[in-house]
Amino acid sequence: MTPSGTGGGGHLFGNAIERVSAVVDARAVEVDHSSEAVFAVDGSGRKWVRKKMLYTGWQPILAESLGWLIGRDIGVRAPVGAICGSGDELSWLSSYVPNALHWQRNYAHFVQNIDEFGAMLALDALLYNADRHAKNILLVPEQGEENLIAWSIDVGNALVGHPQDFIALDLGVPKKPNSARALPLELMRVGAFAAAKQAAKLARTSTLERYVTEACEIVSEGTAPLLLEALSRRMESAVDLVEEYLKVLEGFP
Ligand SMILES: Nc1ncnc2c1ncn2[C@@H]1O[C@H](COP(=O)(O)OP(=O)(O)O)[C@@H](O)[C@H]1O
Ligand SMILES: [Mg+2]
Repeated sequence: MTPSGTGGGGHLFGNAIERVSAVVDARAVEVDHSSEAVFAVDGSGRKWVRKKMLYTGWQPILAESLGWLIGRDIGVRAPVGAICGSGDELSWLSSYVPNALHWQRNYAHFVQNIDEFGAMLALDALLYNADRHAKNILLVPEQGEENLIAWSIDVGNALVGHPQDFIALDLGVPKKPNSARALPLELMRVGAFAAAKQAAKLARTSTLERYVTEACEIVSEGTAPLLLEALSRRMESAVDLVEEYLKVLEGFP
């Protein structure tokens, strides 16, 4: 642990996001529009999906870091996130979820973790993530193919990764999201609002400060206090933002 005075307060409890070492790339992930995501294995044999800053820029790493930390606290099911490498090799790691399918409309009524699935929409509203197409939702069969667990991945394109724009945004939600079709929105409402209430509680806490400080440090971004303020304002208004965002989504076929 760092002696007092030599590090930020964020280090007092260790890192919120794990740093992983000895990561070796395997084959590329075969998905359209991919930001060069590759499968990778770390020194202890854990499998990850890796996205390098060299290909993505730093903004997605900031967005993924904040999205994962906040998402976890508001009840979103997402693979464990981690960081590896430095410089251009700095990478976001998403713990590999085996046997995953992408979202399809005919699976809508087989999703078991509907509240966690709803929480994902609250996260999108908060982070201003318009990139929730079918390939950014994983569905994993559990105990037979009629039981599916929905996982949120890839909040890399959320506006929160562009602090200046996010700060200027104030409130408001994506109006034309690239959203997966036929989401069971009626069923997802409860979880979305429960997550919004959790988010409101997290606003202006030392926990949120720690998340923002750490995520900004990872990408050497200097606007942490302003970003914290902007995020807190949105999180305090989370219920309204979720209401607004559900209306947008309901307008989609
Ligand atoms: N943790 C994961 N487990 C399993 N598959 C994943 C995971 N993360 C990503 N993928 C797969 O890799 C694809 C690309 O990853 P994603 O994070 O969406 O990056 P991109 O920015 O390239 O869209 C996803 O659509 C999904 O098929
Ligand atoms: Mg994606």
